[in-house]
Amino acid sequence: MKKYLGISLAGLVIIFGGYYLFFIQGSGISGFPIHPINESDNGYSFNKTDIAGNSSLPIPPLLEDKNPDPDKAEFHITAQNATKEFISGVETETMGYNGNYLGPVIRVRNGEDVSVQVENNLEDEITTIHWHGLEVDGDADGGPHSGIQPGESWTPEFTIDQPAATLWYHPHPEKNTGRQVYKGLAGLFFIEDEVSDSLDIPKEYGVNDVPLIIQDKQFNENGSFQYELGMHDVMNGLQGGTMLVNGAVDPYLEVPKGMMRLRLLNGSNASVYELHFSNNQTFYQIASDGGFLENPIEMDELILGPAERAEILVDFSNFKDGDTIQLSNKGSEFMKFVVNGESESNYAIPEQLTTIEKIDPDEAVRTREFVFQGMGPMVNINGKQMDMNRIDEFVDIHETEIWEVSNESGMGMMGGTVHPFHAHGVQFQIIDRDGNPPPLNETGWKDTFIVYPGEKVRAIATFNHSGVFMYHCHILEHEDAGMMGQFKVE
Ligand code: C2O
Ligand code: CU
Ligand code: CU
Repeated sequence: MKKYLGISLAGLVIIFGGYYLFFIQGSGISGFPIHPINESDNGYSFNKTDIAGNSSLPIPPLLEDKNPDPDKAEFHITAQNATKEFISGVETETMGYNGNYLGPVIRVRNGEDVSVQVENNLEDEITTIHWHGLEVDGDADGGPHSGIQPGESWTPEFTIDQPAATLWYHPHPEKNTGRQVYKGLAGLFFIEDEVSDSLDIPKEYGVNDVPLIIQDKQFNENGSFQYELGMHDVMNGLQGGTMLVNGAVDPYLEVPKGMMRLRLLNGSNASVYELHFSNNQTFYQIASDGGFLENPIEMDELILGPAERAEILVDFSNFKDGDTIQLSNKGSEFMKFVVNGESESNYAIPEQLTTIEKIDPDEAVRTREFVFQGMGPMVNINGKQMDMNRIDEFVDIHETEIWEVSNESGMGMMGGTVHPFHAHGVQFQIIDRDGNPPPLNETGWKDTFIVYPGEKVRAIATFNHSGVFMYHCHILEHEDAGMMGQFKVE
């Protein structure tokens, strides 16, 4: 073991040393910001008392629909610079949509015609707004081609054409997505439909249907966000030692003795979370990225990669007033539920949630291969880094394809790196992981899935929207470094 450690350390020195030289020469991949500092720590550790924590969980507001027509929705969103007090007495520079950190929840119905007026009030920087998980045409998708200049606005229009789901939105400007999301630009996007209406599950927003946007941050000693990428951050994406839920450090949520529905988003730049409750409280996952699962899946741990969502039902009815249940990531607690009072309604775990028509792999007209390769600044897909002027893959509209994604990145060195795969404008069904059926909570619609080192994941989808779309690793530092490509559907 000791010998093994010695060899690995020597390996690390060689690898990091190489990257260090690379950074010193300042030859980043086309403008990718690289700074040889803060190599592997998780940011400055503040005293618990310095942290403006132990506050009640902030609930993002629902965004007002300005169109009185029930079949149409019109929303206004502004991206802006702001400050927020995460550490007592310190204002941290942030970005937010209509506020100082994160954004409001956009809630629409399947079939609705939606327009969103997006204004860029950021100082001196381009942004875009991308609807992650939404099945719309490329020109409304908000990828890096839809840059909004400072002071300008962009008003995409689209019709919702997919089942109830918890999606999200975030900026996607070329090579600057990681930094803008890190500063706070992200929000949730809910779709409701007849199925979500008819299910007997909690659906009172902010009361028993509560979003949890989970992120981790590195703070500098002066309280600012640390987004100078050191070697560790370039390799693994930016991971931080301070967890935030809906923008709050260590918050609590009062819950009645009854059923709660939690809509979880891993809104981090890079971290994979392993979530569980203290006392090993079990819960039921009812939805994945693209909507309800067919049946609730009982579990006591949930693995959520960057950009993945899960809706879960948690039953607090067997607790007493004052009981506290902690939610933790890999054993470290970051928010608590404090039981208080009776619930107004009684819910049981539904037997069935929806039906999902399985796409038959025989319907696929082809299998397309995507291979994650390289490490650090060299990360790529199929040997290529993102080029805005190159379309990498051409897909015929309405055709069904199998996308086979393998992770050969950094293999043989330090055990490789996890990469979450995401494609725009489409929802997949996972066929298998290394030939084995996926875990039950991955048997519904997925727009993002983790691919572990050495693993091969096959997913199937029908491409019903035309235009140019991105596929990429959703570790945002990898995406910004070029681990992204473009496909055109026509
Ligand atoms: Cu969540 Cu290309 O994005
Ligand atoms: Cu997306
Ligand atoms: Cu990656």
